[in-house]
Parts: sequence; C-alpha cells; structure tokens
Amino acid sequence: MPDLKTFIDENRGNFVESLKELLRIPSVSTDSRHKEDVKTAADWVASRFQELNFETKVIPTKGHPIVYAESPPVPGKPVALVYGHYDVQPPEPLDLWVTPPFDPTERDGNIVARGATDDKGQMLTHVFGATAWMKSVGELPIQVKFLIEGEEEIGSANLAPFIEENKELLANDVVVISDSSQFGPGQPAITYGLKGIAYFELKLVGPNRDLHSGSFGGSVRNPANALCAMLSTLIDEHGWIHIPGFYDDVKPMTGDERENFAELPFDEEKFKEQLGIDDVHGEEGYTTLERRWARPTLDINGLTSGYQGEGAKTVLPSEASAKFSCRLVPDQCPHKIGKALREHLEKVCPSGIKMEFKEHHGSPGFVVATDSPYIKAASSAIQQGFGAAPVLIREGGSIPIVANFAQQLGSDVLLLGWGLDDDNTHSPNEKFNLADFQRGITASAQLWAELAKIDK
Ligand code: BES
Ligand code: ZN
Repeated sequence: MPDLKTFIDENRGNFVESLKELLRIPSVSTDSRHKEDVKTAADWVASRFQELNFETKVIPTKGHPIVYAESPPVPGKPVALVYGHYDVQPPEPLDLWVTPPFDPTERDGNIVARGATDDKGQMLTHVFGATAWMKSVGELPIQVKFLIEGEEEIGSANLAPFIEENKELLANDVVVISDSSQFGPGQPAITYGLKGIAYFELKLVGPNRDLHSGSFGGSVRNPANALCAMLSTLIDEHGWIHIPGFYDDVKPMTGDERENFAELPFDEEKFKEQLGIDDVHGEEGYTTLERRWARPTLDINGLTSGYQGEGAKTVLPSEASAKFSCRLVPDQCPHKIGKALREHLEKVCPSGIKMEFKEHHGSPGFVVATDSPYIKAASSAIQQGFGAAPVLIREGGSIPIVANFAQQLGSDVLLLGWGLDDDNTHSPNEKFNLADFQRGITASAQLWAELAKIDK
C-alpha cells in the first residue's frame, strides 16, 4: 500500500478526471428542466462513497436529493461532518463562455466549467482526502460524515427540516465546509464569518397592455419609471440603506477586527484594475474589506421591463419587475427585514400601479470563534497542504445552512475555502486552480490526522 502522500501525488490525474465527470453533469438546481441532471449528480456523488464502502444513502426531498455517507466510528476521537453542494448556478449568459460551461476544459492551470470551484471541485477535495486514507491506510483516523446537498444555490429550504429530523445521525463536533476562497493566490485563509441573505422580488403592473409611449406617455403611470423611483428609495449615495429598522440589530465591528482587516495585504488598486472600474463604492466610513465582509448591503440582481431587443421601440410597458437582495450580518433577521421592506414599499408605491412583492429565500449572517482547537488543527493542515499559514478572514457570500449547524447540532464550524476571488463564481468562465485542487486534497487528508490529535 502506498503511503498517504504518495497516493495523493500519484492520483493527481485520476482526481482531475473524476472532477471532470461531475462537472459534465448540468446540475442546475433552480431550473426544473435540469431536475433529472441534479439527481444524476447526486447518484454520482453517492457512488464515490459507495466505492469506499461507506454507509451511503441518497435521500429524496420535496426538492433535490441529499447525499449522506459516513466512515466507520472511531471511539474517543472527534467526529467531523463535511458539508458541501453538488448543485450549481445557471450558466447563462452562454455566449460569454470561451468553452461550453458543462464541457470542463483545462486552461492555464485551471479547470474551467460551471461548478468548478462552487462547489464541485472544492467539495471533492474532501471526498478524495478520505479516499486517500482508505486506499493507503485502509481507514480514517476519525469518523467523517458527509452531507452533500443539491439545493444550496436556491437557499437549502429542505435541508433544515432534514437536520432537525436526523440530529443523531448527523451528530458531530465540527462541520467542515470548503465553499469559499483563499485570501489570494499563495495566501490561504480560514473564514470565520459569512454574510446572511434576504432575497426579494418586486413586480409592478400598470396599464393592462403595452401602450404607445407617445399616445399615452405622461398621462398613465409607467411601471418602469415607478420601479426605478421605488428602488431608489432603498439605498442612497452614501451606501446607506433606508428600509426602516434595517440597522437596528447590526452587530458593530470591533476596533480589533477593523485593525485585523487593515493589516491584511489588500491591494485596492489591483482590485479596481481586476474589475475594470475607476473607483470603489460602498457605505461611507468603511474600507473595501469591511464593506465586503462585515457590513450589510443591498443590490439589485435583475431588472426586467419593456423593450430590450435590437434598435428602439417606443413603448410604455405594462409591467416592470426587479429581483434584489440584502446581504446581512449578525444579528439581522431576514424575515424582520422582509416585513419592514414590504411595509415601506406599500407606502411608496404610487397610484395607478398594482404591486406584487415576494420574499424568496433568507438566512442569517454567521461568525465563529477564532480560538477553537479546530481552528488550530485546520491551520496546521492548511500549512501542510498549501505550504503557508492561513490568515483569518470573513467573506461576503452566504451558505444558507451554515448557522443551522451551530444552532441545531451545536457544532463548531470550519470554513476552509480553496477558491480564489477571481474564480468567476456565478459568472461565465468559472474556474478552479488545479494546483489548489491538489493542495486542498492534501490539506483535507491532513485535517483528519490533525483532528485525531484532539481527544474527546
Ligand atoms: N460558495 C458560495 C458562498 C460563498 C461565496 C462563500 C463567496 C464565500 C465567498 C455559495 O455556493 C453561494 O454562492 N451561496 C449563495 C447562497 C444564496 C443563493 C442563498 C450566495 O451567496 O449567493
Ligand atoms: Zn454559489
């Protein structure tokens, strides 16, 4: 039997081929046309665990299936639960992909495909970290449970009840999640905070059909004009959000935390250059990292109305709609904000317009203590996998179920992101660096050894 390290080195090509197999399955959870593909991805993930003779189940839900697997118990040692997701965001706009989104392609040391980093590639580092132990040592040094779901990108609505009903099955000391990023190339990180989210949709309906904008404009309320006016009441030029009570529960940043952020080697000029912008923008009085990681925000995610085809069409549209969301920080409550927002929008909705408001998914922000033995174990594993000590960061993305692990199961949580900020998550040409894929597999394998040093 090869040793752990040799096994990981020798199987580099196999890991990549296996990742490509999963990336070829278009498991877009939000799109019902892909329901069967999502199921195929669940079965593919389950097969990896079955090959290791782990107890494995594919559990149907009202939405997409949950894959659960576990290695044998190791008494006296901590139990880890790896959480990840095999679903992906829609690949559109397709014409901006250099190669098709579900035809994984190696370019410049990266694998390019939808889901490469978010989260198929990152999630598989833990599957292959466990595979390395099973194929080289024959067992894992601690029990590792795997909970891999297919609805993360649509808010994980069916996972919370599953956790509630299966507390014993899922019992663990620490949840391990790789679905975030490093601080930068060559600088790995442990993330101790994520934002929550509250996602909304507003539809305004005016006249009962599209109208000639010359014959009717100026005499009938235009829903597109009304939508712009209503949305502009929500956030101002200072980056301050005007939903009543929005900041009431925001936990302010501590001076220490602001100092820690300021000490990180963040290059704002490079940030602007990478994004092709001539200025940064956000809430007045906060730095870019503070805005991105620790302050609540509001962004329009999509706007639809009227004519967008080639050339010009003089139309007064009958309808206009917007999808928009707030990213939240502890201790803001998504439902409380949704309620206040609805009341505000009803107040500012003008005459001549019917308004429909919908709250989509919501989840709270999350921070974990940074002084746990698990963070120490993870730092050491990352040092071994990536050859550098991790820095502690927060991030602006959301993993809707993350707070539930702490609340429902009392778990500690380790967010060990192997991605990079420029991975194009949710965007065309999503990528994952293949060296980081390999380093992540090593770090994962080492993590089980480091956690085994913690006696229970
Ligand atoms: N991997 C991300 C979360 C993430 C992104 C963490 C960036 C850290 C940095 C995750 O898969 C994701 O995109 N989540 C969604 C959740 C939403 C759809 C409820 C998100 O944040 O938009
Ligand atoms: Zn995502």
